[in-house]
Amino acid sequence: MLTAQEKHQIDHEISLVPTPQNACIEALKIVQQRQGWISDESLKDVAEYVGMSPAELDSVATFYNLIFRKPVGRHVILVCDSITCWVMGYEDIRDHLYNKLNITYGQTTEDGRFTLLPNCCLGTCDCAPTLMIDNDLYRNLTVEQLDEILIKYT
Ligand code: FES
Repeated sequence: MLTAQEKHQIDHEISLVPTPQNACIEALKIVQQRQGWISDESLKDVAEYVGMSPAELDSVATFYNLIFRKPVGRHVILVCDSITCWVMGYEDIRDHLYNKLNITYGQTTEDGRFTLLPNCCLGTCDCAPTLMIDNDLYRNLTVEQLDEILIKYT
């Protein structure tokens, strides 16, 4: 069930766009902020609130890769695997994370600390390779920097 605060925040988003449906992604983000991911039940609640069917909203949610439809760890690592990062050696970054965290794409560490996901271009190709942890963007990455970066996230 949506909380009063979530409804208030969603109402604000709806007031900024032509129809409630146009605010559906922002509404999902608001709910995801509280519980970390979007369960089937939450999807249904949000769909009802913005006047969409759960199936319609689910198709939007699964298309938008920052809406998580399964539980994720406390921190989500998004590794850019698009062309520039690929040319600049993102595979070394990915492989180091695989080894360090003992997981592959789509998995969460046993302690629930990190979930690792591939992501298309993060929009900072001139500083490739790049990755994002939660809302923090890391650019010009080297394998050597990674361990120090991960320490910041508990
Ligand atoms: S290709 Fe990686 S940031 Fe654009």
